[in-house]
Amino acid sequence: MTILNETAIRLPEVELNIYKPENPVEVPVVKSEIATDAASPNFVRHIEFDVSGTDLENKVLPGQALGVIADGKDEKGRPHKVRLYSICSPTGGEDGKGKIYATIVKRVIDEHWETQKLFTGVCSNFLCDRLKGDKIRMTGPSGKRFLLPENAEDYNFVLMATGTGISPFRGMVIDLMRNSALASNGNEVFLVFGCPYRTDLLYKSLFDEYDAERKQFHYLKAISREDPRPDGTKPYVQYTLIDQKELLLPVLQRENTLIYICGLKGMETGIFKILARMGLYEYMRVDDELRDLNPLDWTRDQLKTIKPGERAFLEVY
Ligand SMILES: Cc1cc2nc3c(=O)[nH]c(=O)nc-3n(C[C@H](O)[C@H](O)[C@H](O)COP(=O)(O)OP(=O)(O)OC[C@H]3O[C@@H](n4cnc5c(N)ncnc54)[C@H](O)[C@@H]3O)c2cc1C
Ligand SMILES: NC(=O)c1ccc[n+]([C@@H]2O[C@H](COP(=O)([O-])OP(=O)(O)OC[C@H]3O[C@@H](n4cnc5c(N)ncnc54)[C@H](OP(=O)(O)O)[C@@H]3O)[C@@H](O)[C@H]2O)c1
Repeated sequence: MTILNETAIRLPEVELNIYKPENPVEVPVVKSEIATDAASPNFVRHIEFDVSGTDLENKVLPGQALGVIADGKDEKGRPHKVRLYSICSPTGGEDGKGKIYATIVKRVIDEHWETQKLFTGVCSNFLCDRLKGDKIRMTGPSGKRFLLPENAEDYNFVLMATGTGISPFRGMVIDLMRNSALASNGNEVFLVFGCPYRTDLLYKSLFDEYDAERKQFHYLKAISREDPRPDGTKPYVQYTLIDQKELLLPVLQRENTLIYICGLKGMETGIFKILARMGLYEYMRVDDELRDLNPLDWTRDQLKTIKPGERAFLEVY
């Protein structure tokens, strides 16, 4: 096990916003495939695009996002605004040459409660409708903190995702599994993934394979609508911290462990509350007033005041 002397976590320098909304780059889609099991009630696609010859070549790291501007106009006749999509490729992209990058996109489909009209999200459906060869306008990259440290082999990682929040972790896990020094340093990677049904386990075969073949990788699933906990509650990702305590507490107590959280807004408060109940305040910044209270008594508003600590990285939306 590596004990780090320095406290500062060294993150890579990244170039941001090479392409802005007023000068987006146009790139072709080279692959679009269904990312869930066929029986899933959700529509999620793994989409790859070719950035060769643009200034995005070799410029995007796992944890960063690219912006997409859907074709057409909004209801007021203005160009659509940029929506962000996390890159799911490892460093060097899908091809290892930094020319092909990928993301995973869920079609947003809602019924408007008042008007009873079906609402389809603008950009997620635009992207999922694109066929091989179609061009998309992109901006970015964005994001400079939700990245792996330069010396990733010196850390353990607990990665927690819901739904398409898995996107950055596919790339990060591939990078970490390629880093042979991580295992030889005795460090480990835990991926906790939450989704509604088993049919929605994204990149399942990749993670199952790593779990079976690499002793440093552990894949924990939280299937909210299929595997109720003994008390009947849904097994949300944060409850894995309790339900798999024997596995997770020892790693969370190590000084060189980093937590990354990505996905649904709201999951972070659940995670911080449970970490606090476990006495793991080192992953958060909490007011003294709150620290004196039992985390079980923290109100929703109080929970919102908690900020990630130096060893916690958050990307929720
Ligand atoms: C850093 C970051 C990374 C992200 N990465 C990913 C990713 O990897 N994959 C992914 O799938 N998503 C990702 N997202 C989310 C993504 O940016 C979009 O927000 C998402 O795809 C929805 O966009 P949309 O244009 O389809 O929906 P929008 O058209 O923007 O609609 C969003 C929501 O607004 C409501 N709404 C808006 N207008 C109406 C209306 N007229 N009637 C009824 N309801 C309405 C609906 O509830 C709808 O669900 C990320 C977000 C961030 C911030
Ligand atoms: N970088 C980023 O910021 C980034 C990247 C990618 C995606 N995202 C965002 O991540 C979200 C993923 O949504 P999705 O539709 O893809 O997910 P999804 O497939 O519906 O899965 C979400 C899972 O989280 C569970 N859940 C609901 N509330 C929760 C809570 N408070 N705490 C913990 N778990 C909870 C859900 O359970 P039940 O539904 O059964 O209650 C479900 O199992 C989207 O909002 C997307 O915009 C952000």
